Amino acid sequence: MARRAIVAANWKMNGGLALINTIIDGLTSVELQENVDVVICPSFPFLSELISQAKVNKLDKVIHVGAQNISAHESGAYTGEVSTQMLQELSVEFAIIGHSERRSYYKETSTQIAHKVNAALKAGITPILCIGESEAERVAEQTETVLASQLQPVIDEVGIEKFIDVVIAYEPVWAIGTGKTASSEMAQETHKFIRQFLAKVNANVADKVPLLYGGSVNASNCEELFAQPDIDGGLIGGASLQVEQFKVICSTAKGK
Ligand code: PGA
Repeated sequence: MARRAIVAANWKMNGGLALINTIIDGLTSVELQENVDVVICPSFPFLSELISQAKVNKLDKVIHVGAQNISAHESGAYTGEVSTQMLQELSVEFAIIGHSERRSYYKETSTQIAHKVNAALKAGITPILCIGESEAERVAEQTETVLASQLQPVIDEVGIEKFIDVVIAYEPVWAIGTGKTASSEMAQETHKFIRQFLAKVNANVADKVPLLYGGSVNASNCEELFAQPDIDGGLIGGASLQVEQFKVICSTAKGK
């Protein structure tokens, strides 16, 4: 089967030049297991600095760089937006798309998110598509319905075959930045549902899609989470700003 593990740092609206220096220093000595990709997603203004620092320090094989959002449009009068072509010019390889903070604060819909995934794929940028239910939805036993409603528009727009180049991050909204992590059993059960949902359309593709868990992952809980059969790494917020913790998380991940 052979799926790579991915540990992606979502710095959100945090960090800058100082954190870039700290992460470069820290990752110089990180020991990764087989088939692991580390992706760092700083804010837009710092993408090119991170890329050049990684290159200068000969870490460009270790550190992959991702954006936290993209525009679905190619170019034009969209003040404040960043196109995939701009990111391509900088050699940005990944983009987080549909993070729950974008869905809730900026009202991004699953249809708009599907357009963004399409734009990323067309530009050769790997989308990290975020999906996840709120606490109320979990309590109401709506988790699977919500995840299906977030996945289906993307499948309809790009086609299941293209999911071979997509990474999915399952992030229960109630676990993001709250210190409340889904138990490893609960996370595994939901990841399994996501894989089976994709498998109903194309089992071969479903087997190969990396499924990341996100939501209060830290140095203490990552081992148990990453050991689950359908969890292929993590999307890390708060703990990615603390380099020693982030290093532990990176070195715990292992391809399956
Ligand atoms: P957290 O954030 O690790 O701080 O919970 C994860 C995310 O929002 O991607």
